[in-house]
Amino acid sequence: MTGRLQDKVALIIGSARGIGKGIAQRFAEEGARLILADSEAEAGQATADELGAAFIRTDISQMADAEAAVALALNRQGRLDIVVQNAGIYPWQLIENTSPDDWDRVMAVNLRGTFNATLAALPPMKAQGYGRMLYTSSITGPRVSSPGHGHYSASKAGINGFIRSAALEFSGYGITVNGVEPGNILTEAIELHRGAAYIKNMEDSIPLGRLGSPRDVANAFLFLASDDASYITGTTIVVDGGQLLPEGKDFRLLPP
Ligand SMILES: NC(=O)c1ccc[n+]([C@@H]2O[C@H](COP(=O)([O-])OP(=O)(O)OC[C@H]3O[C@@H](n4cnc5c(N)ncnc54)[C@H](O)[C@@H]3O)[C@@H](O)[C@H]2O)c1
Repeated sequence: MTGRLQDKVALIIGSARGIGKGIAQRFAEEGARLILADSEAEAGQATADELGAAFIRTDISQMADAEAAVALALNRQGRLDIVVQNAGIYPWQLIENTSPDDWDRVMAVNLRGTFNATLAALPPMKAQGYGRMLYTSSITGPRVSSPGHGHYSASKAGINGFIRSAALEFSGYGITVNGVEPGNILTEAIELHRGAAYIKNMEDSIPLGRLGSPRDVANAFLFLASDDASYITGTTIVVDGGQLLPEGKDFRLLPP
């Protein structure tokens, strides 16, 4: 019995905890050989130890770090089949309170990090004639938004535009480029930075009645990373429990 990613080499950036850790766990279950990268060394190493993966401390906003993470994958495994750029930050900040430096920091991690991971992973994937480039976008930005998410929304909408361009440019190299747009996913960071009232409000607005889990998101990544998705490129999968569907807030009411 082999897994759906048996012996595929996957670099997952932003994988110490939350959604990225969920992706790493799911990929490991399906037989992938993992290289984990994260800016938090201790938590990242602990996750890697749990999964028998290699770990490298990486600030994905820095090109040299992205290149070092790819180099580790090549040194340890001799190839790189899948890159997942999941690292992202979401400070809550109204636009009128956002400084240019605040703006740049969100863009540096979420958007330049996406570019850095792509540019670093491209040479080995191009040489192999095979690659899966995957990104964590969000429904926030590409589809909807809420106050306090100006920079974040811009960065995630930017990722979707980048996915389309990269998919076109790399289509002749055997590389597919796709993303996942999570809705509201219950992670430690969401509990810490958004709090109970926000979570309750989101629960009430999700037709399936609960926030998503990292595993829900990881299952979409698994599909896009697998050979089942070999004819899919330049798109995103929304994983949101139906949150984008309602026309009004009383969507649970039926006509009398
Ligand atoms: N949780 C949600 O509801 C939700 C919804 C939509 C999209 N997302 C996106 O999913 C991704 C993960 O979110 P999460 O909720 O699991 O957050 P999280 O904070 O738990 O995980 C993010 C991981 O990225 C790492 N990271 C942060 N900055 C980094 C950097 N510069 N370089 C490398 N690693 C870095 C963190 O250390 C952490 O391990 C983010 O891109 C986020 O925008 C989350």
